[in-house]
Amino acid sequence: GVAAKIAPSMLSSDFANLASEAKRMLSLGADWLHMDIMDGHFVPNLTIGAPVIESLRKHTTAYLDCHLMVTNPLDYVDPMGKAGASGFTFHVEVSKENWQELVQKIKAKGMRPGVAVKPGTPIEEVYPLVEGENPVEMVLVMTVEPGFGGQKFMPETMEKVQVLRKKYPSLDIEVDGGLGPSTIDVAASAGANCIVAGSSVFGASEPGQVISLLRKSVQG
Ligand code: DX5
Ligand code: ZN
Repeated sequence: GVAAKIAPSMLSSDFANLASEAKRMLSLGADWLHMDIMDGHFVPNLTIGAPVIESLRKHTTAYLDCHLMVTNPLDYVDPMGKAGASGFTFHVEVSKENWQELVQKIKAKGMRPGVAVKPGTPIEEVYPLVEGENPVEMVLVMTVEPGFGGQKFMPETMEKVQVLRKKYPSLDIEVDGGLGPSTIDVAASAGANCIVAGSSVFGASEPGQVISLLRKSVQG
């Protein structure tokens, strides 16, 4: 479906208080919690992995939307499944050879498979993954170079969202990077329905108002 899903990126939260930060976001209206898994290799930053997802899972039943910015996503499927991840979004750039096996294993572990594209990656690369007999259920269009929160939204990525939305009317299309009150309208009108927002939510004096504003823009 194309219901709005507002997903605060916990990368911008206080990692030392992850459980309470997660509960705060959910109480303010977040639909999903976006969890950025980085390996210091696919991207030049290192964040959290399955052990932290497992710890957080003990404190919440929320949908944990896990974005795997890692070179070897296949290695993460079992641990993330056991840890209680809900969505498992891997990058197409590192999965050209084994995406079918990846999707199959992600589903077998009870997670929802998604595929992500960096700003420089042509959107055509995800078509086989969306159209296959064992399809991914979400496409994440990166709207910044992956690796860090707080970067500037790249409007040129919106063409990919438009093309995807036209081709797949009911696909979940997620955008991630630089989303906030000043950029949500272009992303929503291009057709994005799952909205990741880190610094714009956590940096706001009223994060709940930002979450509502993002939702209103998507719902129209
Ligand atoms: C960047 C991550 C994003 C990041 C977004 O590589 O994938 O999820 O946390 O942060 P903002 O919303 O601050 O750009
Ligand atoms: Zn992310």
